[in-house]
Amino acid sequence: MTFTLAQRTQRMNSSAIREILKVTERPGVLSMAGGLPAPESFPIEAIQVACDQVLSTQGAAALQYATTEGLPPLREWIARRLSQGGWRVDASQVLITTGSQQGLDLVGKVMLDEGSPVLVEQPTYLGALQAFAPYGPVFQPWAADALGPLPKTLSARLAYLVPSFQNPSGHCIGDARRREIALQAERSNMPVVEDNPYGELWFDQPPPPPLATHAPEQVIYLGSFSKVLAPGLRVGYIVTPSGDHPGTQALRAKFLQAKQASDLHTPVLNQRIIVQLLESGFDLEAHLDTVRARYRAQRDAMAAALSRCLPPGCTWQLPQGGMFFWVTCRPGHIDTLQRLPLAVEAGVAYVPGASFYAGHAPAPANTMRLSFVTLSPAQIGEAVARLARCLV
Ligand SMILES: Cc1ncc(COP(=O)(O)O)c(C=O)c1O
Repeated sequence: MTFTLAQRTQRMNSSAIREILKVTERPGVLSMAGGLPAPESFPIEAIQVACDQVLSTQGAAALQYATTEGLPPLREWIARRLSQGGWRVDASQVLITTGSQQGLDLVGKVMLDEGSPVLVEQPTYLGALQAFAPYGPVFQPWAADALGPLPKTLSARLAYLVPSFQNPSGHCIGDARRREIALQAERSNMPVVEDNPYGELWFDQPPPPPLATHAPEQVIYLGSFSKVLAPGLRVGYIVTPSGDHPGTQALRAKFLQAKQASDLHTPVLNQRIIVQLLESGFDLEAHLDTVRARYRAQRDAMAAALSRCLPPGCTWQLPQGGMFFWVTCRPGHIDTLQRLPLAVEAGVAYVPGASFYAGHAPAPANTMRLSFVTLSPAQIGEAVARLARCLV
């Protein structure tokens, strides 16, 4: 039997990271490839208690169909939390999604046509490229300097960026640059998709306020409980721009319709578990402090191991939050994609940096992403030592 597949399937690619993860499941491989949050950080007991309470007190509602927008108390909690700084978010702006990955797909479905120009950082989150690609956009590299994307003329259907502790670079855009980008986006009347799954994972000080604070009518904000509680819950959210302009209302309505067609709603059992957890005395701040301390120690272990082991010419910056180091080897010296089989043979894995570049220009072959959150500090030391032996 042959099946005629839609044209758009030609633009779908399986993630290089997932393919690599398969290889790294081999026993003995110390993997710095996957961006898997530390399982030790999952609040399993608290989730178990919340789950029991939900099933015993609201079992039928938790297992019934529910509204596409998401559970009102969860939308209200998110709006309250995001409104703690200078950004005013109303619960009516919040649409619960099945992970922020679904938010990215909905952005593509609702906002992109074939040939639509989309500005992306170089490098950028691979999963966003994958989510947008089937809709046929033309990715445009967003020119940047050391402080982040440049706020000069912004003309595209939309711009996508991860301002805090980016995946893969670990970079955090400072407050001044955020304000400049927001201002320029407003002037150019260009929507910005601000993807912020890592903002709570800061080590020494919180990142500056979201871009949405400075351009609330311009920014489509994506958030997630994946790095705050656990990714298996698959609960994220879109905050649609504020205001009652007909264009804003149409955007909200279309996100809702697109989500309805996609999965009707995000699992309501999981939404209720999160609400129960957050409203029953679970100390989210203490939990986040524990996760931050764990990740900071792992970050420090990797920084020390990189300085100790990597050959001269390799460079990196110390991430101030998030989950990743971005390492650049001497240009022309090493192709990290070609070296990967050798590395896996030596019992270590990473993601070659070329996977994170969109567009036509050849991607730099000498970069790689290393996750520091999955291995213990001792394992990180060993993993980096193995890696260093493959880079000479
Ligand atoms: C930048 C970025 N956006 C979105 C996601 C998707 O996260 P989730 O769907 O688990 O919320 C990830 C996951 O790693 C990510 O790194």
